[in-house]
Amino acid sequence: MTVSAPSSLPVDRDWWRHAVVYQIYPRSFADSNGDGVGDINGIRSRLPYLASLGIDAIWVNPWYPSPMKDAGYDVSDYRAIEPVFGTMADAEALITEAHGLGIRVILDIVPNHTSDQHRWFQAALAAGPGSPERERFVFREGRGPNGDEPPNDWQSEFGGPAWTRVTEADGRPGQWYLRLFAPEQPDVNWNHPDIADEFTETLRFWFDRGVDGFRIDVAHGLIKDADLRDLDGMGFPLPDDTPEGVEHPHWDQPGVHDVFRTWREVADSYAEPKAFCGEIWVGRDHRLTAYLRPDELHTAFNFNFLMAPWLAGAMREVITSTLNAHISVGAPATWVLGNHDVCRPVSRYARPQELLQPGFPNLQAYLGLPVDLEAGRRRALAAALLSLALPGGAYIYQGEEVGLAEVEDIPLDARQDPIVAGTDGKDVGRDGCRVPLPWALEGTSAGFSPDGAAAPWLPQPADWGTHSVEAQDGDPSSSLELYRKALAIRAHHPALGDGEMTWVDPASGSGPSSLRQAQDRPSSGSVLAFTREPGFACWVNFGDEPLPLPEGATVLVASEELSGGLLPKDTAAWLQLP
Ligand code: NOJ
Repeated sequence: MTVSAPSSLPVDRDWWRHAVVYQIYPRSFADSNGDGVGDINGIRSRLPYLASLGIDAIWVNPWYPSPMKDAGYDVSDYRAIEPVFGTMADAEALITEAHGLGIRVILDIVPNHTSDQHRWFQAALAAGPGSPERERFVFREGRGPNGDEPPNDWQSEFGGPAWTRVTEADGRPGQWYLRLFAPEQPDVNWNHPDIADEFTETLRFWFDRGVDGFRIDVAHGLIKDADLRDLDGMGFPLPDDTPEGVEHPHWDQPGVHDVFRTWREVADSYAEPKAFCGEIWVGRDHRLTAYLRPDELHTAFNFNFLMAPWLAGAMREVITSTLNAHISVGAPATWVLGNHDVCRPVSRYARPQELLQPGFPNLQAYLGLPVDLEAGRRRALAAALLSLALPGGAYIYQGEEVGLAEVEDIPLDARQDPIVAGTDGKDVGRDGCRVPLPWALEGTSAGFSPDGAAAPWLPQPADWGTHSVEAQDGDPSSSLELYRKALAIRAHHPALGDGEMTWVDPASGSGPSSLRQAQDRPSSGSVLAFTREPGFACWVNFGDEPLPLPEGATVLVASEELSGGLLPKDTAAWLQLP
């Protein structure tokens, strides 16, 4: 089926170079049928809200049939809809209605692993060792005299060894299969032609239904070392000075690029402009932008920016290195503050920033550090203005626009993330950023569900409604209205979106004529300032002292009210220069 419904999508082949994409985590966005779990018709009911926010596209986390052992990232059928979320007709209606409002639709594809309930894995279990069915996955004999040790030393992202042993048809313990995530998420074997065909078909299936692009789960993980070499203590991401040729055995293997060259051909075979965004955790900029060469992916999430502390020097460094690396391959950068895997930015920035340690930025990384939520909220708003002013595209994770904080006190037994079980509760996991959204001040689940509905799938805090869309709608001092204002300016200002920027040194004088180029100089203290042509500047004050803005500049929008014309601490302002 090819969709030819009326569309209000802007004619823009390069939409992905500058799009503001709003991430929808369907379980937690809006519940239309009262079962306590968000669904596709819930998303449809909120499309006018998304249009009023001013975003260009939505990315919907996996909505496919799934036993939900990892919230839908365990897919049992890539070309159908999970009944909890709705029907194929609902999905098609959502795509058509979003397009009617000028909003593009990006789906989430999960090519590194399936669910253990996928027909291929079930067939592999039934067929036994040595069978062609097992070749689609990574089955091996165990080590040790009885084969009762895992085949190598790889570790699961969710804790413990990355291998699970099966019981064979004769009832005896048998082979092991690789699963870099939960036991119910067997890794597929990308050297098998069926795998490539299955995913190419899946891309076409959804592109033919009008979908505009895909976010690619674990894009850097598809290819494994041919010999399944041990890690022998090798960590990841590899350090910056790693010699070329030294490769991690299961992340960022060079062969992965061939997969995406094929996928790019599929995307480019459509008349409408389709785009990919890779979930690629590789640390080093040049390894990330290798995925963005002209015949590979269009964009990738910029996790280095997400992980940078709220310190002027660190921010400036990550922005500069991001842009330099992206320019070298001609790809646009993306600016990302949060998603469904990491601690919400309000709560991340609420911690003393000098104390943050490198590592995966979910809540566990921040527990134990003092919390100043007021500072966190100010910084998150300033970071939003900063990220929306930088060259390229931007992502907003649902709830960021109303300033939601991480919910840190969900009891361990109510948490559902497989990380909690995988680590025996040593890691609290990712549920705190997945709590169902507050839409209304009052009512069942703060408006997430209709009246009389079942309890939401994760508990909401008692005051959740005070952070709701209803509480902020129309209030010019609210986070929501700040986002709306910034997005409206961004949509029309010729300097914003894709393009270039120039650092300026605010210390060199206050007049706009004295905004001089400072591209290669070290960061000037606690301020970041840059210009974009024509006539735009963004200033961010990271320091305690209020800051005079350049003379003659008009403030387009600021993340806090200015006091006496000065830019307060932890505040960003967009300026129109004369
Ligand atoms: C990344 C996804 O964002 C995350 O939620 C999931 O658990 C893993 N990939 C495994 O699919």
